[in-house]
Amino acid sequence: MKNLTIIDNPLIKRDITYLRHHETREYQFRLAVRRIAYILASEISKEFLTTEIEVETPLEITKGHKLAKQIVLVPVLRAGLSLVNSFIEMIPQAKVGHIGLQRDEETLQPVDYYYKAPNHLDVSTVIILDPMLATGGSASAAAQFLKDRGARELIMASLIASPEGISKMETDHPDVKVYTAVLDRELNDNGYILPGLGDAGDRTFGTL
Ligand code: PRP
Ligand code: URA
Repeated sequence: MKNLTIIDNPLIKRDITYLRHHETREYQFRLAVRRIAYILASEISKEFLTTEIEVETPLEITKGHKLAKQIVLVPVLRAGLSLVNSFIEMIPQAKVGHIGLQRDEETLQPVDYYYKAPNHLDVSTVIILDPMLATGGSASAAAQFLKDRGARELIMASLIASPEGISKMETDHPDVKVYTAVLDRELNDNGYILPGLGDAGDRTFGTL
């Protein structure tokens, strides 16, 4: 799969195990998500271009670097919110948009209920944040939503992806690079990822 990066990292493997465990409490769950998101942000940042600038040290002028493009983070509500803080800590100048998408649990189709994003998406690197890429319906809809509003360079950041979700993104958005911490086996009949971690929004916010 050309545009898929699965991050191979021992700390991620350990933390995904915490996330999967059915007895992991919300506060432990959120902390593990936060740690994984730092590594995701670091891996994804390898895609960023930099521009050379001058910097004056206490001793002399030398070459430095700044990010060449504006970075826009777009968490998909609700569960995507859990990834935002780590990304912002790593990329403090990032702007943040929000997309509210709720998966209809009967049809499994995403239904949008909120959208707000910064200007100049067309010249930004836009990173969609959503921990779960299951049927891929939400990620694909989010990517289309952002493209319709000008986004041209899109990256998807997820924690757990399914083969079905990856395939959908490849078909609908072959230009979008997908990063995930782990690729799981399959979806069940209700569109949940197996082995997965259950409902990411509920486990993050304690709404089980
Ligand atoms: C979850 C998750 C994704 C979506 C993935 O959100 O955060 O947005 O499901 O499923 P898909 O790939 O099949 O579209 P959910 O709809 O449960 O909303 P929530 O974050 O508000 O709980
Ligand atoms: N959304 C979730 O939160 N978990 C899944 O396994 C699938 C969709």
